[in-house]
Amino acid sequence: ALQILIVLAVGYLLGSVLPALIIGKMVNGIDIRKYGSGNPGTTNVLRTLGIGPAILVFAIDVLKGVVATLFAKIVMPDDVVLGVTLAGFAVIWGHTFPLYFGFRGGKAAATSIGVALVATPTITLVVIALALIVLAIKRYMSLTVIIGAILYFITVLIFAREYWFLALIILVVIIVRHRENIKRLLNGTERKVGERVKLQ
Ligand code: G3P
Repeated sequence: ALQILIVLAVGYLLGSVLPALIIGKMVNGIDIRKYGSGNPGTTNVLRTLGIGPAILVFAIDVLKGVVATLFAKIVMPDDVVLGVTLAGFAVIWGHTFPLYFGFRGGKAAATSIGVALVATPTITLVVIALALIVLAIKRYMSLTVIIGAILYFITVLIFAREYWFLALIILVVIIVRHRENIKRLLNGTERKVGERVKLQ
């Protein structure tokens, strides 16, 4: 039981570190949540700050998911699926409701990728490859992430059923956090990848 608490706490505290907010503040002196879509994530950093910061944000957000779940594997070696599921939940929870940034966090796409890479590496890589086809054709990152989460859930149900609950958590969080994107996709106002937003 102590292990469970440690895994949850480490996941939450790690998830609460938002590189998009830290880099926006330190490098550009801005709160990224006031620009573009307002989301502190890779896509919004790309459209406001550019490709370099976006790659850095993506790498760190993925790494949070990887580290939190690998930590759970070490702390709960006899209950890997439970540990990874709890750690995944906690790190995504931290990313969406961060302790250090007024509980206003991101949409958890990159962090979910990190979690999924540890839980189900092969499935995750295949789903990413398929989702990238959607991105190449439609150019909407939000749509890509939503379709990726749906594909991931279905694929896990078929090939890695032990992780069904983790995949469900990811799917629900992704859809709920992309509510505004879904509205914009439906009324044709969603921004495509490649569109830039001016600072000020
Ligand atoms: O995960 C974030 C991405 O799917 C959408 O980001 O900034 O376009 O709302 P954004």
